[in-house]
Parts: sequence; C-alpha cells; structure tokens
Amino acid sequence: MTTRDTLFSMVSEPAAETGNRVTIVGVGQVGMACAFSILSQGISNDIVLVDVMEDKVKGEMMDLQHGSLFLKNPKINGSKDYSVTAGSKLCIITAGVRQREGETRLDLVQRNTDVLKFIVPNLIKYSPDTILLVVSNPVDILTYVAWKLSGLPKNRVIGSGTNLDTSRFRFLISQKLGISPTSVHGWIIGEHGDTSVAVWSGVNVAGVRLREINPSIGTDEDPENWKQVHKDVINSAYDVIKLKGYTSWAVGLSVASLASSILKNMNNVHAVSTYVKGHHEIENEVFLSVPAVLGANGISETVQQNLTDEERSHLQDSARLMGTVQDELIF
Ligand SMILES: NC(=O)c1ccc[n+]([C@@H]2O[C@H](COP(=O)([O-])OP(=O)(O)OC[C@H]3O[C@@H](n4cnc5c(N)ncnc54)[C@H](O)[C@@H]3O)[C@@H](O)[C@H]2O)c1
Repeated sequence: MTTRDTLFSMVSEPAAETGNRVTIVGVGQVGMACAFSILSQGISNDIVLVDVMEDKVKGEMMDLQHGSLFLKNPKINGSKDYSVTAGSKLCIITAGVRQREGETRLDLVQRNTDVLKFIVPNLIKYSPDTILLVVSNPVDILTYVAWKLSGLPKNRVIGSGTNLDTSRFRFLISQKLGISPTSVHGWIIGEHGDTSVAVWSGVNVAGVRLREINPSIGTDEDPENWKQVHKDVINSAYDVIKLKGYTSWAVGLSVASLASSILKNMNNVHAVSTYVKGHHEIENEVFLSVPAVLGANGISETVQQNLTDEERSHLQDSARLMGTVQDELIF
C-alpha cells in the first residue's frame, strides 16, 4: 500500500477532461502573455503549450506549473509533439517571427506563411473540430492562409485582428476625456496594421456621438486634431517595439478576452479578422476585421456598420492591398 492508497478511499474515477482545452503554439513573448492572461483570469484550466524550441517550452510549462497554487489548479502541458494538443476547443497561433524595429507587419508574410504550413495541419490532425485563432503577423493574411490550410469552415478560423487596435483607440480617447475605456465606444476595423480604419462616425460616450459635437472629428479639418489618436494607434506597436523590443501584455489580454467569449459562449461583439468578401462591397477574397459576434461556434454573425463613404473606401483599399499581397504568396 502506498501513502496515496492509504490516504484515499475510491468513490469514482475523476473526470479526465474539462472540455476547455486551449493550445497555444509559440511560447515567445506573445504566446506566454496569452497563456498568463488566460490562466490568471481562469478562462481555461487546461492549457497546452507547443513550440519548436523543446527546452524553452518545457521551461515555460514548468514555470507556470509552479504557480498552480495561486491559480485554479489548471492542467498545464507542453511539448513540441502535437499529440498533446488532442481535443483542443481553441488553438491560438502565436508562432513565427515578429517585426524588428522599423519593419512592417507585411514584411513578415512569407516567413510566417511557411511556419503555418507546418503548424496548421498538425493542429487539425489532433483537433479536427477546433477553432483556430491566429495572432501571428501579418494577422489578416495569415488568417486567410490558416483558413486555406485547415479546411475548416469560415466561422472557425478567426484572426485577433483589430481587437487590440480597438482597445488602444478606446484607451487613448478615454485618456483625452478623463473617463474609463469601457465607457468610450468606438471601433477600429480593417487591417491590423498601417491601413486600419477608425470609424469616427460611430465614436460615442453614452450614445452621444462625438461627431455631433465636433462635425470634423477625425478629419484633416478638425481644429482639435483628433485624427492624431488614430495615428497613435497605428504607431503604437512601432513605439512599444522601439522601447522594449516587442509587444506582449496588451495583445495577451486582448486574446484572453476573445478566448473567454469563445469558451464561455458569451456572444460578445469583438473586432476580429474574418472573411469579408461581399461586406461593404469588398470584392477580394480576404480577411479583415469587422465587429463580429463570438461564441462557442466561433463567429456566428458580423455587425453591418453604417460606414461613411470615406470609411468604406478605406476598407476597400485595405482589402485590395491584402489581395495583392496574398497573390504573391507561395503555400
Ligand atoms: N496580432 C497581434 O495583435 C500581434 C501583436 C503582437 C505580436 N504579434 C505577432 O505575434 C508573433 C509572435 O511574436 P513574439 O513577440 O511572441 O515572437 P517571439 O520571437 O518572442 O516568439 C515566437 C515563438 O515562435 C516559435 N516558433 C517559430 N516557428 C515555430 C514553429 N514552426 N512551430 C512552433 N513554434 C514556432 C519560436 O520558437 C518562438 O518561441 C509575431 O508574428 C508578432 O508579429 C501579433
């Protein structure tokens, strides 16, 4: 008899699965910020880490496991072998190269496409009904690539998109108004990158549209230069990368908010990258962010925003740019 056998008297076998397994591929700065946010908020208690760097993935796994006492007794596994990911409800892809100082997200495209060619089939092999959440950049194009490689329906392949840009936008406006970001409503849609679109026509506090107070808000004619807020959103990643080398915490929190909506079937509306051909007269087969309802089936609906002609035409420009980059891709 072992100590364990003497300590316990068996009533039934414990449940083997909790049914909310989340795999995170890539244990770099972004992957670990996602893992930490998801665990510390109790969004999932079954996390699997995967990376090509065997020691790093093992080290990160052990480091998180050692904090289990302060979490909700999560199951934390890690490997370079995809069999450990079997049965994942959600697979978050953060693997690949990141921008170096001055590099744009689009500069990373072929290198990270090659990374996805290995990762996506392996994830689907062990979790054929999973939801894929792509975070690696350029996220809109890589979400399209992941959709093509996975064979999954469109609703189950999602890019983290402008959920983060929208958070930056609401934070910066909230700073100018002296209120909390949750009380500022506004959306950044389109590309997670240099051609993103700020929907100034809808920015409001308590239903009061800022455009009704300041008709030129967000335009070059605005004496208060609110347009700078959107420029700051676009420059955010470049500024943070210049200062600390990478971005991590905000994207980790933003991905955790998406994971929460999916795993808890909350039907929250987030700006995420989805198939937008046919929306806002977009003709290209591309993924871009629009507000979308997120739940256990992935994306169930998108919100048909009333855009101005200028906002719609910017979105169409983004779509054409994505289409041009995609045409050059080898995968
Ligand atoms: N969508 C967003 O909002 C957003 C925000 C920030 C960063 N990012 C992107 O996230 C990605 C990761 O950034 P990071 O700062 O964590 O980079 P990082 O260099 O710190 O980590 C990347 C990790 O990917 C791993 N990797 C590489 N090839 C792999 C493969 N084939 N299989 C498994 N793992 C592999 C590496 O070993 C490394 O651990 C970048 O593309 C970055 O641009 C996206």
